[in-house]
Amino acid sequence: MNIASNECSCTKCHAGYGWTDDSFNFSDPGSVDCLICHADPALYSKRNNRCGYPDKDVDLAAAARSVDLPGRSNCGACHWYGGGGNNVKHGDMGNALASPEPALDVHMGGLDFACQECHVTDRHRISGSSTTSSVSEGVVACTDCHDPRPHDAASPLLDQLNDHCDAVACQTCHIPQFAKADATVTLWDWSKSGDQDKLLSKTENREAYLSREKGLLVKEKNVRPFYDWYNGKHHRYLKGDPVKPDTVTCMNPPDGDIHDPAARITPYKTIYGVQPADALYKYLIVPMLFGDGYFRHFNWLRSAEQGMTAAGLKFSGDIRFVGTCMRWRVNHEVAPAKDALSCLDCHRPDGAMDFTALGYKGDPAATGGRFAAPHAEADFSGGHRAFSAGKNFMGP
Ligand code: HEC
Ligand code: HEC
Ligand code: HEC
Ligand code: HEC
Ligand code: HEC
Ligand code: HEC
Ligand code: HEC
Repeated sequence: MNIASNECSCTKCHAGYGWTDDSFNFSDPGSVDCLICHADPALYSKRNNRCGYPDKDVDLAAAARSVDLPGRSNCGACHWYGGGGNNVKHGDMGNALASPEPALDVHMGGLDFACQECHVTDRHRISGSSTTSSVSEGVVACTDCHDPRPHDAASPLLDQLNDHCDAVACQTCHIPQFAKADATVTLWDWSKSGDQDKLLSKTENREAYLSREKGLLVKEKNVRPFYDWYNGKHHRYLKGDPVKPDTVTCMNPPDGDIHDPAARITPYKTIYGVQPADALYKYLIVPMLFGDGYFRHFNWLRSAEQGMTAAGLKFSGDIRFVGTCMRWRVNHEVAPAKDALSCLDCHRPDGAMDFTALGYKGDPAATGGRFAAPHAEADFSGGHRAFSAGKNFMGP
């Protein structure tokens, strides 16, 4: 899905006043909406189909008087509702972060951090790299504030955790589950759209329903992440890139593998999709959804013609639905330390992690870490293990 042809709704968040079509001037500072980040969100808001302008009933004078440094709900006005609803897209970013318990998020809960406490902002450059967009104003890392070996080195067992930090990201152990307060979408099948809305099944942690506009949606709560190697880079599907019709095309797989000293095992949310593609040209279709688009006429052919013209891509007139997958890094909803993954959560059969899929011969506590000498022994007594080559690569 793409912004082209959907400007007036998408630009509620894809920022700026009056982005109605592709003639929007991104360099005009007068189009920057200051109030969305600086006014009290209870007094200032935006709706769909206003092309980035605020709601008609907003009292602009009152909103202007409320100006302050951004609170979590200011950033959340856009970041909590991406993908069409609360917590839908990321799973670790929803409106429960407005006033969370520490059990949901130790930093925004107990410690009441604003977003920019971690996303340090200098002259409006908000730091933090995204999983999908290539814009980045510097990275944010747990180790911006915490020691890279944060666990008590005097305890042999806890010192083992420090050794793990070369191969395992902090988030992996400290965010054992996400979407703890509200469910997040994990499957989105557009090919099933067009029929009546209908609830298909519902249990405490999983709900499947048909939406006339969006198709089959599965939402899950208390989701365990998928783990993969990540070295700071992601590959990205760009408009017009080829899709493989018979397999699932991953839109943004992370870079790095077990042999890459810069890569660490990192937690992800996965969302599987079924999306329209051009059967002849074999790339994804950019459909027009809003306005006179699919959500009005429920005709994929028409919405593809409308959207592809706006996106400047050739359309053969032949649509085929293909499987896609997206990965989102999980960085929020850090749990209290006592709930972190510990030794036996991973080092047991059917533990949290599929070691073989990650490239190990078996459980590394038995077969050795990635840069250890071939035969290391399992040692849960906490003795100091041999210095692994990994650290030399990592530098200080
Ligand atoms: C409620 C706010 C909101 C609306 C409305 C919205 N977006 Fe987004 N979108 C975001 C945010 C925030 C991001 C940045 C990444 C993130 O936090 O998810 C984003 C990122 C994206 C990306 C980059 C890839 C990705 O999935 O993150 C695409 C593509 C995108 N949006 C398309 C659209 C389209 C098309 C529409 C209209 C149909 C739309 N967005 C409407 C908030 C919104
Ligand atoms: C995307 C959100 C966002 C938008 C839009 C935004 N700001 Fe900010 N602004 C911030 C953040 C974050 C800070 C840093 C707050 C902190 O340090 O705690 C900030 C800080 C400021 C400060 C304090 C001084 C400084 O530069 O650190 C001023 C003044 C300010 N903004 C004015 C504006 C004006 C005027 C606009 C519109 C042209 C605007 N902001 C638009 C997020 C935003
Ligand atoms: C008006 C909607 C809106 C508001 C409010 C907003 N953002 Fe964003 N933010 C976006 C969109 C859209 C993107 C994706 C930009 C892109 O891909 O071009 C984004 C991207 C980001 C990124 C990813 C890095 C990047 O530069 O793409 C971070 C981090 C971020 N925002 C943090 C914040 C913080 C912190 C605040 C509050 C101070 C905030 N945002 C307020 C819409 C918003
Ligand atoms: C305890 C620190 C912390 C706080 C508080 C925090 N974040 Fe983040 N956030 C991170 C880290 C770490 C990353 C990964 C950034 C990177 O790799 O550069 C991240 C990533 C992001 C991204 C990129 C997501 C992606 O994968 O595409 C967005 C958007 C974002 N944060 C928005 C927010 C918003 C909005 C808030 C407040 C509601 C917030 N963050 C509060 C630590 C924090
Ligand atoms: C292999 C899993 C694992 C990794 C990787 C990991 N931690 Fe931990 N961490 C734990 C466990 C388990 C505890 C609780 C230890 C205990 O019982 O006191 C903990 C405790 C903590 C505490 C509380 C410390 C204290 O003394 O009370 C902090 C802070 C912390 N970790 C931060 C981090 C940071 C930052 C990183 C990345 C540099 C990280 N952790 C990497 C598992 C891990
Ligand atoms: C802006 C600074 C900052 C960033 C960035 C940050 N933290 Fe923290 N964190 C703190 C502070 C301050 C505390 C409270 C004092 C302490 O326990 O160290 C804390 C506490 C913790 C605790 C202990 C919670 C408990 O139960 O006592 C854990 C675990 C933790 N952080 C993990 C992380 C992880 C994982 C990340 C990255 C996603 C991260 N932190 C990013 C500042 C930060
Ligand atoms: C989040 C999952 C996870 C947790 C929790 C965890 N481990 Fe591991 N462990 C791993 C991974 C992955 C490796 C491989 C690291 C590498 O490649 O360097 C590993 C490696 C090891 C090794 C082999 C080290 C070597 O280089 O030969 C031992 C021993 C070990 N872990 C013991 C422990 C102990 C003791 C704890 C608790 C204090 C623990 N693990 C907690 C995932 C985990």
